Amino acid sequence: MYTQALNANPDADAPQLEDAALLARFEARVADEARIEPNDFMPAAYRRTLTRQISQHAHSEIIGMQPEGNWITRAPSLRRKAALLAKVQDECGHGLYLYAAAETLGTSREELVDQLLSGKAKYSSIFNYPTQTWADIGAIGWLVDGAAIMNQIPLCRCSYGPYARAMIRVCKEESFHQRQGYEIMLTLARGSAEQKEMAQDALNRWWWPSLMMFGPPDAASAHSDTSMCWKIKRFSNDELRQKFVDATVPQAHFLGLTLPDPDLVFDEAAGHWRYGTIDWEEFKQVVAGNGPCNRDRLATRRKAHEDGAWVREAARAFAEKRAAAKTAAAA
Ligand code: 3HC
Repeated sequence: MYTQALNANPDADAPQLEDAALLARFEARVADEARIEPNDFMPAAYRRTLTRQISQHAHSEIIGMQPEGNWITRAPSLRRKAALLAKVQDECGHGLYLYAAAETLGTSREELVDQLLSGKAKYSSIFNYPTQTWADIGAIGWLVDGAAIMNQIPLCRCSYGPYARAMIRVCKEESFHQRQGYEIMLTLARGSAEQKEMAQDALNRWWWPSLMMFGPPDAASAHSDTSMCWKIKRFSNDELRQKFVDATVPQAHFLGLTLPDPDLVFDEAAGHWRYGTIDWEEFKQVVAGNGPCNRDRLATRRKAHEDGAWVREAARAFAEKRAAAKTAAAA
C-alpha cells in the first residue's frame, strides 16, 4: 500500500531498510482500521501530510470567524445575535482542537500559526469571500457548514487518532451551525419579496465557492491517492462534492430558491444531480491569494495576533512563575 502510495507521490521519503518491518506493521494496522497514535511509528510522509491538512483545517476555522464575526453587531435580533456569537465561538474552539491535534505530530503551535501569518500556509478558499448582507450568514451556515459536515463526518474515521477524535466533537457542533443557517434562509425565503431576494442573492454568490471547498477535481488532487491509501480521507473530493450537491439541491427547492446553475439536472439513472462546470481558474486565483478578501483576512489575523501578544506573554510568565514555585517547593 505504501509502495503504491510512494509511486503516486515519488518525492515522499523512501523508507530505510530497517524501517521496512515497521512500515509493514504500520500498513497492516491501517488496513485493520487501527488508530495510529502520536507515539506510534508512522512514515514521515504520513506525518507530513497530516500536519499539512490538520493545520490548514485549523487555520480555516480561525480565519472563518471573520466573515461571520462581521455581522455579530448587526444581527437583526437578540436570538440571531446569540446564535451567531455561539457559532463564531465554536469555530474558535474547533481551531484550538485542531491546532492541538496537529501539535501531536511534532510541529509547535507557534510554528503552525507563523506559517499562516507569513502567508505560507493555506486555509479554505471559501473564507475569502465577503459577507455583504445578513442573508450571507444564513447561506454560510447552510452551505459552508453543510459542506464542512459532509467533509468532516468521514474524518471522524480518519486513521490518525487525535484528528478523528477532534472531529467527533466538531461535527456535533457543526450540525447546530448548519441548522441555524438554514433557519435564517427559511425565514428570509418565507418573508417579504425583498427578504426572499436577499436569500436568492446570497445563494447565487455562495453556491459555487461552496462546491470549490471540497478541493480540486480528483484528477487534479495531489494528495488524494496517498490520503485514501492511509485512510486519512475516506472519500475523494468529487465523491464528497456530489454527496453535498445531492443533499443540498432539494433543500434549495424547499426554500423556493433557484440554484445559479442552468446546467443542473437530475440524472434518474444514476440518482444524482448533475451540475455545471466549476470555474477552477477562480478557485486557483483565490487559493493563490487573489480572492476578494484574502488580503483583509490575513491583515486582520496578523493584527489580532499582535494585539494578543501581551496575553501570550502574561500566560507564559505565569506558567514559568508557577513552574519555578513548584520546583522550589519540591527542593
Ligand atoms: N481552499 C484552499 N486550498 C485548498 C482547497 C480549498 N478549498 N482545497 C484544496 N486545497 C489545496 C490543498 O491544501 C492542496 O494544497 P497543499 O498541497 O499546499 O496543501 C491542494 O489544494 C491540492 O488539493 P488536494 O485535494 O490534493 O488536497 P487534500 O487531499 O488536502 O484535500 C481538502 C483538500 C478536501 C480540503 C482536505 O484537505 C480536507 O478534507 N481538509 C479538512 C477539512 C477542511 O480543511 N475544511 C476546510 C473548511 S473548515 C470549515 O469549513 C469550518 C466550518 O466550521 C465552517
